[in-house]
Amino acid sequence: MRVLAPAKINLHLRVGAAKDDGYHPLLSWMCIVGLYDELTFARNELQEHRLRCDDPTLPMDASNLILKAVAAVSETIRPGEGHHVGGLDISLSKNIPAAAGMGGGSSDAARTLLALNRLWRLDRSYGELLDLAAGVGSDVPFFLNAPSAICTGRGEIVSGAGKPAIGWALLILPDIRLLTAEVYRQFDAMNLGNDRALHNPPNWRVWTGYSAMELLPLLRNDLEKPAFLLNSGLGAVRDRIESRLRRPVRMSGSGSSLFTLFDDEPSTIAAAEQIKRECGIRAVPAALAPFFFDGLSEKSQD
Ligand code: C5P
Repeated sequence: MRVLAPAKINLHLRVGAAKDDGYHPLLSWMCIVGLYDELTFARNELQEHRLRCDDPTLPMDASNLILKAVAAVSETIRPGEGHHVGGLDISLSKNIPAAAGMGGGSSDAARTLLALNRLWRLDRSYGELLDLAAGVGSDVPFFLNAPSAICTGRGEIVSGAGKPAIGWALLILPDIRLLTAEVYRQFDAMNLGNDRALHNPPNWRVWTGYSAMELLPLLRNDLEKPAFLLNSGLGAVRDRIESRLRRPVRMSGSGSSLFTLFDDEPSTIAAAEQIKRECGIRAVPAALAPFFFDGLSEKSQD
């Protein structure tokens, strides 16, 4: 079975003060973008799972979110349940940069939950899969609600949103890795937590109808300040690209990926070429909130 795992960007991300459990309450509008990891699943004759990846820098041990998702599903299986439940050879072809705030690992984990449900004929409901997803990581449930959703709680409470009228994102991918937990620690150290924005959400229906230049100036990411303090090079890249492209550029999630938005594909491609040429940074044009098909439709799992 071969499946596609899309990246996400946080168009808008407001972050409140840490709760007793250390997690931060969020309000975020998240959309998938047309940049995909590829996963294949094949049964093996062993009683163990083997994970291979074309990126040698990624951990392949139990901390990998794909293996966490396999473990989460496996723990729910009662004796005699399912069909050919056993060892799997999983191979991951990575296109989404790691530690970049684009949810690559979370998306891989969400596709793994859906794939195992199908492969092992477990017939788990959508609600059951959502619960498993939240246990694997805060961003995982979003990927069961793609392509566009509003995420609250620690990110795991997801409600579907309209597909934005804006069709294109330019993904700017500097060669910088930021650890999510460290960015949140810096956020706390800077005492930035403020719940006010969480209680006053924008009118999402109006926002989904805006053009790129109407929406961009309204977007915020409260993790930019701590991320740019941890890595001042990233803040400098953002400022430089904003002035080159003459439009707002935002960070996604806890960084280091940056993005801006366009209404049409030719402008996105032209901007990508300009950033590569003038700044020497990887820049990828990607459809915003695309519908894609790999045979694993979330809604068919209902
Ligand atoms: O849930 P997940 O394991 O993806 O989160 C990674 C880390 O990010 C957590 O250990 C926590 O430090 C931080 N985090 C947070 N508040 C959130 C989500 C994540 O502080 N809402």
